[in-house]
Amino acid sequence: MSEIKKIKEEYLAKLNDVLDQNKVNEIKTELFGKSGIITNKFKQLGTIPENEKKDFANSLNLLKNELQEYILKKNEEIQNREINKKLKNDNIDITLPGRSYFNGKIHPVSQVIDEVTSIFSEIGFSVEEGPDVESEYYNFSALNTPENHPARDMHDTFYLEHSKNLLLRTHTSPVQIRTMLNGKPPFKIIAPGRTYRHDSDQTHSPMFHQLEGLHIDNNINMGHLKGCLYYFVKKFFEVDKVKIRFRPSHFPFTEPSAEVDIGYKIEDGKIKIGDGEKWLEILGCGMVHPNVLKNVKLNPKKFQGYAFGVGIDRLAMLKYGINDLRAFFESDIRWLEFYGFDPLDIPTNYRGLSR
Ligand code: PHE
Repeated sequence: MSEIKKIKEEYLAKLNDVLDQNKVNEIKTELFGKSGIITNKFKQLGTIPENEKKDFANSLNLLKNELQEYILKKNEEIQNREINKKLKNDNIDITLPGRSYFNGKIHPVSQVIDEVTSIFSEIGFSVEEGPDVESEYYNFSALNTPENHPARDMHDTFYLEHSKNLLLRTHTSPVQIRTMLNGKPPFKIIAPGRTYRHDSDQTHSPMFHQLEGLHIDNNINMGHLKGCLYYFVKKFFEVDKVKIRFRPSHFPFTEPSAEVDIGYKIEDGKIKIGDGEKWLEILGCGMVHPNVLKNVKLNPKKFQGYAFGVGIDRLAMLKYGINDLRAFFESDIRWLEFYGFDPLDIPTNYRGLSR
């Protein structure tokens, strides 16, 4: 009996001082291993006189349970201690200075696309898109542009190498064809996107952006076209009055066709849109040619409408006073920092487009 008490005191004291998991395991083996102290004591049971046996076995069981419980408690304690230590070391040092980061800007072209989308969506236009790589059919033939038309010339158009039939679209007008072939009238869409022509100087880049507009219904006439463009120009340049002139022109896919100029003047070295003696061409437009309607299986006697095409880069240059188009595509981060827009400054017609 006293021997059992001795073991108990010795090992509880031993365990009490231990702080290390391996050490606890060692002690456990010392007690309960194959030839551990407690294991051996159980083996001795047979040699003990019958009258002492029961008491001895009871005390031994109690000791065994007590030691095992204590070992479990110790393990838990050690684990908690380790977790706490880890948490303490991983602590965030809130006194450290923050990492600085670079705030991106919205490119003027993206900004203008958002602005025109906002303007046109308010009068019922939805947005369509088409691919940059087009077939000759969508880009020219379906748009009533004959085989021998100069616009098809290799000097203007980027044909793709292996097949003469594929090209980089020279305008967004093929989206008119795609839209009309894919749906049912009425159509009232705009289509912003990239376009390509073999041309490069201060105001021309081989890749540029256009916005196509198309409105087809039963009774659409040139008055609607004019009204729509007046509305657009006033909203876009954020002026109450604007001088606009429609100049007769030619596009194979519209009849009659016009180019639209807006009045402007230079004041204090800055361009002022809307008034003045000078004229600036901003877009091409016209009434959709009956042949185009026939090509998309619409009856020109039942459906008419107008279309227009605006240079988006040009709009951005005029509105935001940027005079070299090439800078748009040079990816100079300092340029973007200066001419770009804040990411959350999303244009809406209600709040005012630009600030
Ligand atoms: N696609 C013409 C161009 O790129 C513009 C245009 C579009 C003209 C629609 C009339 C109607 O010059």
